[in-house]
Amino acid sequence: MLDLTTVRAELGAQYDLTPSQETADRLGDLYSRMDRVVPPSDWAIYAPYVEAINRLKVEKNAVILAHNYMTPEIYHGVSDFVGDSLQLAIKATEVEHDVIVQCGVHFMAETSKVLNPAKTVLIPDMSAGCSLAESITAEGIAEMRAKYPGAPVVSYVNTTAEVKAASDICCTSSNAVQIVDALDADTVIMTPDQYLAQNVANLSKKKVVFWKGSCIVHELYTAEDLRAYREYDPETKIIAHPECTPEVVAEADFTGSTSGIVDWVHQHKPKKAMLVTECSMASNISDELPEVEFAKPCNMCPYMKKITLEKILWSLHTGQEEVIVPDAVAGKARQAVQRMIDLSRELGI
Ligand code: 13P
Ligand code: SF4
Repeated sequence: MLDLTTVRAELGAQYDLTPSQETADRLGDLYSRMDRVVPPSDWAIYAPYVEAINRLKVEKNAVILAHNYMTPEIYHGVSDFVGDSLQLAIKATEVEHDVIVQCGVHFMAETSKVLNPAKTVLIPDMSAGCSLAESITAEGIAEMRAKYPGAPVVSYVNTTAEVKAASDICCTSSNAVQIVDALDADTVIMTPDQYLAQNVANLSKKKVVFWKGSCIVHELYTAEDLRAYREYDPETKIIAHPECTPEVVAEADFTGSTSGIVDWVHQHKPKKAMLVTECSMASNISDELPEVEFAKPCNMCPYMKKITLEKILWSLHTGQEEVIVPDAVAGKARQAVQRMIDLSRELGI
């Protein structure tokens, strides 16, 4: 586990990280992408870290791939590419840098490593997990196969490399229905998200059987809360992530992956919107969409929020923490992820 006292002392000795109005002003272009959600005093604290990270990235030939749930100073300040899980996985196959710094949770970094065995993949905090990835092991996949002989296993990318290796193909929230429908089987096993699986089943021609994992962020939203909000303000468009329960999804005006949500809001520009997903999403896009008023129900992902500017700088400075996947697991996991990427391309997703 990271010892933040040591981290701070070492970084403080190597870089000038004191809050600075001068640095904040120098990085004014970056700040303009987030000035509606990050106060000037906070930017004066962040700017020295942002400058140091962006300089080190060049020195180390590193690229930062960041998930849509990162906080605005990471999302806008230091990321080279932002996206949902599918976009990040595809991007990982395209980058030419020696080092990938994954700003997201561990399964995302593992996916990048599996797709790029020769590259160094770093995660700024190894303990950035995911309740879904923690809910199932390869034994769980074997149990499901024994219960439903012959049914193919589609595992959400929110799983460990070991679970991916035991699965036939992966999916993400942006391609799950199409992947399930494309398989040559009447019954499909989906793991580990019970709600994503039920939401897929409601849109698919297949019989979908599932593992009973859940996302601790999205399962907190209730259909009653959304109905109460709609009654209070019928004008607000409600936009949900498919890790929410089917009851919540039924209340939503649109359901999609994190990038699907961003695209939908850009396209439709509703006067008011409520993003039924992780807190940072609305903050990250509100500067680009000043005409949209966001209601911000805030369920925070404690795992995503382990990634901070300080830990990103530490990661680039020390080359820690490196994600390693044993070859025997990586090969099979790669097949399941690559099948998903290939099929998504074939299906035009
Ligand atoms: P997306 O693939 O939609 O970005 O979802 C990832 C995730 O962890 C959402 O909770
Ligand atoms: Fe996992 Fe949920 Fe956090 Fe996404 S939001 S990383 S699914 S715990």
